Amino acid sequence: MSIQQILSDLAGHLEALREDGVKRVSVSRETLEAFGRHVNTPPPDPRLRLEKIAARIARCTLCPLHSTRTNTVPGQGNPAPEIMFIGEAPGEDEDLQGLAFVGKAGQLLSRMIERMGLTRDEVFIANILKCRPPDNRKPLPGEMSRCLPYLREQVAILNPRVIVALGGTAVHGLLGLETGITRMRGKWMSFNGIDLMPTFHPSYLLRVPSARHDTWSDMLAVLTKLGKPLPKPGTRSGEASGA
Ligand code: URA
Repeated sequence: MSIQQILSDLAGHLEALREDGVKRVSVSRETLEAFGRHVNTPPPDPRLRLEKIAARIARCTLCPLHSTRTNTVPGQGNPAPEIMFIGEAPGEDEDLQGLAFVGKAGQLLSRMIERMGLTRDEVFIANILKCRPPDNRKPLPGEMSRCLPYLREQVAILNPRVIVALGGTAVHGLLGLETGITRMRGKWMSFNGIDLMPTFHPSYLLRVPSARHDTWSDMLAVLTKLGKPLPKPGTRSGEASGA
């Protein structure tokens, strides 16, 4: 139970006592001091907490990928987003810049986000892995299990209303499901109580443009879940999906 909940329960209890005619309540000095400590401590700024995680990621040597990386890629964006996008792992551009989804797949993701009526600064974008696997190969199970605690911490701080899992590896990493993304996409799932929408990875959409229509309908489901206005339908499926 959070201190806010405890204080709100306490206020309700005191109010009930007052309604019952109680005029005074005696409180010990220790209890007052304990409450004072909590009440006077502002909640830690999520931005600072995210920066601390990013600093730990930058020093991370838990898996062999640290020896081949140029930069770590912790993820970036709004520290209190409604939507968090989670991909697979940094590619070459991301490794060079230390930023998630800045290559070709990232450009497609940006267009999709804009088509949703949002900007990249309004959402948070991260990956299952924080370091680039050589030759962009799929993340290995050991790499994922060592890296995932960072992402879990980030999700707990960001507390988004919706997570969009981009591709099968993201769903596998977050939920342990190995079902193909074609079967999972478009169906609401849940990660630690947060609604999760699996959809195709933007790299796949670059290779198979005909799948963009499905991803766009998944994004419309996300906007609907958030009560946001739906963009007017595009004239082409490519346009509708931000292509
Ligand atoms: N693919 C990903 O999964 N993540 C990136 O950041 C870039 C490409």
